Amino acid sequence: MDLKLTAPHYGKLGFADVDSILSIEERVYAHPWTRGNFTDSFSSGYEAFGFRNAELDLFAYFVVMPILDELHLLNFAVDLPYQGQGHAKLLMEKLFAYVKEHAYASILLEVRRSNARAISVYEGAGFAAIGVRKGYYPAHDNQREDAIVMRRMC
Ligand SMILES: CC(C)(COP(=O)(O)OP(=O)(O)OC[C@H]1O[C@@H](n2cnc3c(N)ncnc32)[C@H](O)[C@@H]1OP(=O)(O)O)[C@@H](O)C(=O)NCCC(=O)NCCS
Repeated sequence: MDLKLTAPHYGKLGFADVDSILSIEERVYAHPWTRGNFTDSFSSGYEAFGFRNAELDLFAYFVVMPILDELHLLNFAVDLPYQGQGHAKLLMEKLFAYVKEHAYASILLEVRRSNARAISVYEGAGFAAIGVRKGYYPAHDNQREDAIVMRRMC
């Protein structure tokens, strides 16, 4: 099989993609980012990249913020119908290519303690837990949830 025929389209995202991104956010997160979170991110120069299917509909993306020589992974998502097919791994490879191109020394991220699936993806990609931010995330019934902080040296 010619993999090039089935590989998703990959590219940079911007303001024009916010509606598509928000639809995915609302499907995959109990506490999705808002439109303002994305427009503020793009206004601040944070970059986002994603995969599109053959119809050029967006189905996966990540958002990154540089902090000196460290890249902060702010958001990383695969749309529901596309999950469990290895797209997170493919997207992570794109992130690593970006990191290499820009010569970052490390990647930092936060993930909900309960998000076993994402933690498994991150561990598989070489991230290790380096700390906990207590009550970092909003949770159901006005509760808060801890973030596990993970880092990968590049
Ligand atoms: C986390 C997420 C990006 C993973 O995307 P995906 O395309 O389904 O991931 P992949 O198919 O590449 O890999 C999933 C891996 O997790 C494993 N996995 C699946 N469900 C799991 C679970 N409940 N617990 C632990 N591991 C799990 C799979 O076995 C697979 O590992 P393997 O390839 O070694 O078998 C996706 O589920 C998502 O977008 N979730 C909502 C948004 C989110 O939580 N993002 C992270 C924010 S920090």
